Amino acid sequence: MRTALRCFSLLLILAVSSVVHACPPSERAALLAFRAALHEPYLGIFNSWTGDDCCNRWHGISCDQVTHRVADISLRGEAEDPIFERAHRTGYMTGSISPEICKLTRLSSVIIADWKGITGEIPRCITSLPFLRILDLIGNRLSGDLPADIGRLRRLTVLNVADNLISGSIPASLTALTNLMHLDLRNNKFSGQLPRNFGNLRMLSRALLSRNQLSGSLPDSISKIYRLADLDLSQNQLSGVIPSWIGRMAVLATLNLDGNKFSGSIPPSILVSGISDLNLSRNYLTGNLPDVFKSQSYFTVLDLSYNNLKGPIPKSVSEASYIGHLDLSHNHLCGPIPNGAPFDHLEAASFVFNDCLCGKPLKAC
Ligand SMILES: *[C@@H]1O[C@H](CO)[C@@H](O)[C@H](O)[C@H]1NC(C)=O
Repeated sequence: MRTALRCFSLLLILAVSSVVHACPPSERAALLAFRAALHEPYLGIFNSWTGDDCCNRWHGISCDQVTHRVADISLRGEAEDPIFERAHRTGYMTGSISPEICKLTRLSSVIIADWKGITGEIPRCITSLPFLRILDLIGNRLSGDLPADIGRLRRLTVLNVADNLISGSIPASLTALTNLMHLDLRNNKFSGQLPRNFGNLRMLSRALLSRNQLSGSLPDSISKIYRLADLDLSQNQLSGVIPSWIGRMAVLATLNLDGNKFSGSIPPSILVSGISDLNLSRNYLTGNLPDVFKSQSYFTVLDLSYNNLKGPIPKSVSEASYIGHLDLSHNHLCGPIPNGAPFDHLEAASFVFNDCLCGKPLKAC
């Protein structure tokens, strides 16, 4: 009798614990519906999605340890995923992202990255996931707009939809994402202007928006983003002047404005700032190269090629503590190339196609 009772309670404990540890059936159903809208024919990443407990060894799924609700979807088609690293290959997946994932209301990260063939829109309902911190959909073929109410995702720290076919303007509500640290919209079809209050994104450290069709000028509010370290707006249709406040931003280290329609002169401040990677190539910049270089001027890249700069290369350039890659080609510069440390290693390609530059490494004056 006693043994029977003990057996019974043991069974009860087992039964209760397996119920507690399994993912809720509704979440399992949502995941299976999500999977049904996708087609991954080569690697079988979904083969592990069997059994009742989606929290247990389903590839790419992890659950909250306490609530056992699905917390993360992390499916990467890139080699950095251990499965692919072993197989020495990358993945390919077609289909679309089912709105069923919005039923997983405890999701904190959604990473469906680098599958190359996933089409359709970002489900509108994604903005109703109140705990979402990371949305990373890089490297697919997603189209349509970003949801207009993306600003509802107040906890979002990472928004990465780079390398897709997303069009439309950057939603005004995006600037309500005051926890956003990493914004990557590169290589899509975004058009229109940057929101004027872009600077409300106070936590932003990387703003990567290159290779879109953005137009208009740089919003002054960007100067308020104190943590901004990397601003990449290259290969858009941006115009207006390059504001001098950009050289006074506290931690800005990389500034890529190349391949736009910026005009006016180069603000002296950006040549004596913390910016070490500066590309202003292929714009309509005019005027002289400011004669302000100092020991603070430290450049791994200084690319000013394909503009309309005139006058001499200033003597102060030799005051710069370092210039790794310099490109002044395709301008209207004239006069002797100064000698000194930053020039010793440079080749003619850095200076060709100007009006009348001369001296080493070009021909003597
Ligand atoms: C600077 O930008 C131009 C135009 O987008 C690009 O061709 C060039 O490679 C860039 N320079 C460097 C050093 O990356």
